[in-house]
Amino acid sequence: MMARHFLNLSDAGGDGVASMLNEAIARKAARAGYPEGRVDADAPLKDRVLAMIFEKNSTRTRVSFDMAIRQLGGSAIILEAGSTQLGRGESIADTARVLSRMVDAIMIRTDDHAKIEALAEYASVPVINGLTDLSHPCQIVADLQTVIEYGKALPRLELAWLGDGNNVLNSIVEAAGLMKFNVRIGVPEGYDCDAGFIDRARAAGGQIRVERDPVAAVRGADIVVTDTWVSMGQPGGEAKIAAMTPYQVNEALMAQAAPGALFLHCLPAHRGEEVTDGVIDGPGSVVWDEAENRIHAQKAVLRWVFGQL
Ligand code: CP
Ligand code: NVA
Repeated sequence: MMARHFLNLSDAGGDGVASMLNEAIARKAARAGYPEGRVDADAPLKDRVLAMIFEKNSTRTRVSFDMAIRQLGGSAIILEAGSTQLGRGESIADTARVLSRMVDAIMIRTDDHAKIEALAEYASVPVINGLTDLSHPCQIVADLQTVIEYGKALPRLELAWLGDGNNVLNSIVEAAGLMKFNVRIGVPEGYDCDAGFIDRARAAGGQIRVERDPVAAVRGADIVVTDTWVSMGQPGGEAKIAAMTPYQVNEALMAQAAPGALFLHCLPAHRGEEVTDGVIDGPGSVVWDEAENRIHAQKAVLRWVFGQL
């Protein structure tokens, strides 16, 4: 049987993402009050081993997947790519073949999305996208879980994105198509998100609006989201910072959103750049719940790739 890979949200489809969200919320509630290291009562991934390959830095993805597989009864091996033979030029295909003989699933954080596609092509075990230059689907499962936990229903939700058109935005746009919510993209010209993601989301029934005016993007939004202006491995520079500056999520911009609007950020945040202290530490900010939910959401992703959801 072909392994189930999770390279993008569309691999799971709307029903798959919905079942992940239900699972994440229910399993989180069922272990309320447990010490973090205690295994869930049913230990559904007992004896399973997840290898995690990192070609870029990570705090949340690394710790949340390690804790996720532990809480499900399995264990993890963390591979810093630079200290593996991958870092000395062993091919992705051969790495996939070897790891598939040794572990039960592979999570990778890399740069070029083509690398994860090659890994999935040659692996006979599930491959999970822990972020590429193109997308960050695992993050968005946690984000949607957080939004639902704060009482917001996804269909027709109005989400405003401010800043750079990056990997996180691509996955948000993809989610909008699958879960039928609306995205206002407040991004300066020249820094747009992937057109293919926008086209597919629109075709699937998500409303995607590109707004060059940051106030128009945020006005009346239920959710306001931003991320670093310069993603890992991407060029920065003064011209980009100047283009991004009007899109900073500060108190004045946040005040344009709907009453009770939530602020999300995948983190790490660059306080004083894409977001002010007043917003990230303010009443609408749910970023710490969002970070915690990486564990619960990643548990659901793991159960999904193993065919348990
Ligand atoms: N949000 C996120 O993926 O964080 P890390 O880079 O710390 O993994
Ligand atoms: N867009 C950011 C996300 C970090 C979690 C990056 O790719 O660096």
